[in-house]
Amino acid sequence: MTAFSERVERVSISGIREVFEAAGADAINLGIGQPDFPTPEHARRAAIDAIESGETDGYTSNKGIPELREAISAKHARDNDLDVPSGNVIATSGGSEALHLAMETHVDSGQEVLIPDPGFVSYEALTHIAGGEPNPVALREDLTMAPADVEDAISADTAAFVVCSPANPTGAVQSAEDMRAFARIADEHDVLCISDEVYEHIVFEGEHRSPMEFADSDNVVIVNACSKSYSMTGWRLGWVAGSERRIERMLRVHQYAQACASAPAQYAAEAALSGPQGIVDEMVESFEQRRDLVLDGLEEMGLDVPTPQGAFYVMPRVPEGWIEEVIDRGVIVVPGEAFGERGVGHARISYATGEAELKEALDVMANATEAVR
Ligand SMILES: Cc1ncc(COP(=O)(O)O)c(C=O)c1O
Repeated sequence: MTAFSERVERVSISGIREVFEAAGADAINLGIGQPDFPTPEHARRAAIDAIESGETDGYTSNKGIPELREAISAKHARDNDLDVPSGNVIATSGGSEALHLAMETHVDSGQEVLIPDPGFVSYEALTHIAGGEPNPVALREDLTMAPADVEDAISADTAAFVVCSPANPTGAVQSAEDMRAFARIADEHDVLCISDEVYEHIVFEGEHRSPMEFADSDNVVIVNACSKSYSMTGWRLGWVAGSERRIERMLRVHQYAQACASAPAQYAAEAALSGPQGIVDEMVESFEQRRDLVLDGLEEMGLDVPTPQGAFYVMPRVPEGWIEEVIDRGVIVVPGEAFGERGVGHARISYATGEAELKEALDVMANATEAVR
């Protein structure tokens, strides 16, 4: 008789999808985590040109085309003041695959991975898929993750901890001091810090710093993607950056699971990363306005809302029955527990949606709040 692996049986389809499926067709969707901007024209054009010239008909090198890896290396020098040689990068199928490579490569069966709770849904699932044990770390009142809490949770079984800033689902941004502390913890305890930086550009207050800047060892790997920064979620192009020995191991997984990232997407990503960066600033400005709109609306309803400093999510604490009431009235929001046990009593609202729809949704939420009070 065929059976399913225990690893896969420990994973279920994301709670976010379940909410989408339960909602009506004309609902306002504040559940989805993608920018509502078009991919930059020059990125689309680069892919079209590469397709038309036939350059994308075959496999690329496993790590990705040299031009893209050079562009990623230049991006790290430009944006992060980091020296990441182009050989120390693997182009992946989105940030999702990059996370998978980092987990598969560094987590042994039964080992622990410390993950923020609430945190992005993939961390728990990918830990299980790697045969590991997720160990959720509670967040501070402001929804950032305290380095001291990570350090306290480290044991002989800990393989890695995940840092995500700006964060999904909270919008919280870790301080430079926190990032320095995460680097020190990775160095001193000899555990891997997986730094998920896919929202690095979407910061309204504070600044994005990578723990890799502060680490003395090679115990930090960076996961990043074009998905959120350049509104390229559908292209499926991300990367993982790390030391030579870590990249060489991660390449073993990537080579057999993926061979190479999609060739047209690689050309588009190269253009996005090395072309004009104005679209990023435009998106961030627009997200900040929407953040303020949503924050004001939620506060007026009397909800307790930690101010998100980045990404495009807000995570208010909500009264019992609020989420069901809001969804029943035609606005999709995601229950906090989809992101971990400590997400209970919160809702995740994505504001990567037009202002008119956001205003309509806020009216619905205000009425729902009255109804459940
Ligand atoms: C924190 C975080 N990391 C990684 C990803 C994966 O991004 P991608 O679409 O590039 O696979 C997401 C997507 O929502 C995310 O929110």
